[in-house]
Amino acid sequence: MTEKNIQLFIRFDDLSPAELAAFNTILNNLLQLRGMDFRQYRPKCLRRRVTVGMRDVNLEAFADYLNFLRKNPQEYDNLLDRITVNVSEFFRNPETFLAVKSKVISELAQRKTKMNSRIIRVWSAGCATGEEPYSLAILFKEFLESSRLDLKVNIYATDIDSGSLEKAQKGCYSLKALKELSAFQREKYFEKTAEDVYAVKPELKEPVKFMRHNMISDEPLMRIDMLFCRNVFIYFSQELQVQVYKKFAKALVPGGYFVAGKTEIMMDAGEDSFERVDMSERIYRKK
Ligand SMILES: C[S@@+](CC[C@H](N)C(=O)[O-])C[C@H]1O[C@@H](n2cnc3c(N)ncnc32)[C@H](O)[C@@H]1O
Repeated sequence: MTEKNIQLFIRFDDLSPAELAAFNTILNNLLQLRGMDFRQYRPKCLRRRVTVGMRDVNLEAFADYLNFLRKNPQEYDNLLDRITVNVSEFFRNPETFLAVKSKVISELAQRKTKMNSRIIRVWSAGCATGEEPYSLAILFKEFLESSRLDLKVNIYATDIDSGSLEKAQKGCYSLKALKELSAFQREKYFEKTAEDVYAVKPELKEPVKFMRHNMISDEPLMRIDMLFCRNVFIYFSQELQVQVYKKFAKALVPGGYFVAGKTEIMMDAGEDSFERVDMSERIYRKK
């Protein structure tokens, strides 16, 4: 599709035809130039994020922003950063991790042991800059050390944003991101390498494998025992949420856990494949 022949995937009644065309052209160019398809994301959310990108370069109209992007194509990377909001922190919403610790991990570990299977496969989908998968690595390490079970955990951490994944792989964080950790955990798993820079130690990096993956368009990972996907679905339209829930159901083994976290909405279609484990933390188990 050329810029001249633009299809209006997203419409807003308050925008002029020229502004609407510019907005849709920007989305189309993100798809053509960066392979990122945001057309099924929530329109209001998307507009808010593109507006933030536009204001970063002191512009107020989508048509002006489109011109700016044509002259400065590297700005598409900044725009992508704005759209794929990637704020995170260690043990974000600690109650969710507490519920996983008490209601999920030990059942999962016992089941694996009974099945003579030594590997627990965990997927952190939409992992942003890595805080979530590293938190899961801490949770499992502590459980396995105290239970002395002969199990190993592999954590697959995926995101569509390569910039976030690079940061995740480096594993350097400020003290603010670590605020939910105890002093003991900070000492044990991090090394202070500069003022306000805490680097993840190799033992915590070892079980985590980062990969670029688009949960909408790529095939899901398979044979997953526990899947975390938190603070991502808020950007997706309802149809898209249903589509991705179906992929997650395919990814999980029977009895596998899906942790959606507090802010997510479980769609009716998703409920067919999952039973409820904890409604306040939105933890589900594949039937
Ligand atoms: C707000 S962060 C959530 C990070 C972490 N899960 C947490 O709760 O702290 C949302 C992440 O979802 C990622 N994301 C958005 N759409 C995605 C998609 N289609 N496939 C994979 N990741 C996606 C973004 O790049 C961003 O890093």
